[in-house]
Amino acid sequence: MQCNYFGLCGSCTLHKMDYETQLSYKVEQIKAQFGIDTPEIIRSNPERFRTRAEFRIFHDYDNGAISYAMHGFERKKIVPIDACSIVSEAIAEMMPKLLNAISQNEMLRHRLYSVEFLSSSTGEVLVTLIYHKKIDDVWLHEAQKLAEVLQIDLIGRSRGVKLIVTKEYIHETLQIDGKPWRFRLYDTGFTQPNTHVNEQMIGWVKHHVALHKSDLLELYCGHGNFTIPLSEQFNKVLATEISKRSIQSAKENCALNSVENIAFVRLSAEELTQALQKERVFNRLKGIDLDTYDFSHVFVDPPRAGLDDKTRDFVQRFENIIYISCNPETLQRDLESLKKNYSVENFAVFDQFAYTRHLECGVILKRK
Ligand SMILES: C[S@@+](CC[C@H](N)C(=O)[O-])C[C@H]1O[C@@H](n2cnc3c(N)ncnc32)[C@H](O)[C@@H]1O
Repeated sequence: MQCNYFGLCGSCTLHKMDYETQLSYKVEQIKAQFGIDTPEIIRSNPERFRTRAEFRIFHDYDNGAISYAMHGFERKKIVPIDACSIVSEAIAEMMPKLLNAISQNEMLRHRLYSVEFLSSSTGEVLVTLIYHKKIDDVWLHEAQKLAEVLQIDLIGRSRGVKLIVTKEYIHETLQIDGKPWRFRLYDTGFTQPNTHVNEQMIGWVKHHVALHKSDLLELYCGHGNFTIPLSEQFNKVLATEISKRSIQSAKENCALNSVENIAFVRLSAEELTQALQKERVFNRLKGIDLDTYDFSHVFVDPPRAGLDDKTRDFVQRFENIIYISCNPETLQRDLESLKKNYSVENFAVFDQFAYTRHLECGVILKRK
């Protein structure tokens, strides 16, 4: 992949290697770290793979020009850039058009701090403009014209203020083994950054989890990214997550796909443990009889910190554990404990973050 900013921009830390070399380098590290000889390897597209991106805005006060910028290799520096080779086609096309339009409009340009892009494979783009100034109805008027001209969804944010210019989500259709699944992706709340790898991760889990008459329990479910396609494999699903926004969009996504066997509830992993162990009663669980569930599998996709001590103990109540991890260090810590009672049935690496040192892993465990 060619990029004029390799070595200057701090984003792609493995820029000196081509796609296959950086993947092999990371896979070898995982093999050594986990003692796994032949993990399944899920590749990314080698370029234009990031469907979510955030850029700072650099203001050149000498000539009034603005440009996108990234943190440099030396963290204190910021590097002006005019393109990024890893963002999706839709974001790459929109970047210069957006910058050009904003440059020519003092209201939109003044004190613009950063820009976030979210795109879908249908070509929809949601842009969030983040300001270090108060934004108001005058700004909204200009922003409406911008959204109209560029045919984008647009949001403005400044401290304590969020102005939705058009709407605050776009639609994505994931193809999992030839079947389409529809999702609303919001500006806030977690979304997987590499759609092609995401589709394959979901497909990998579905492939290794056969049809069951029993039920699935999910912690850290986000907007139902795995939950909704996986619900086909189970009788019923209880899916939980800490973020209010994500639970709201998970319910919307469930309706979009006409799926009726999932209950989404806003509960942190810690709260869910308390609820299932009958240590605490939650109003949010009203109408859900936990005793009617027969969980054979627990699915976890935690943040980088991995499982907390109580959750790590709690998941061992279940016969099968499906663990998706974005941090090999915390996965290794958690597996050291889980492997006392579970055997690793499947292990995969997903190159979600190509050209960086990060790698996503998937592990399916079965009680010994
Ligand atoms: C790596 S994301 C995975 C989301 C989802 N599986 C997906 O693929 O989009 C982790 C999720 O855990 C949620 N989360 C963070 N801390 C949590 C906690 N203590 N309990 C429950 N959910 C939490 C975050 O809001 C986020 O949606």
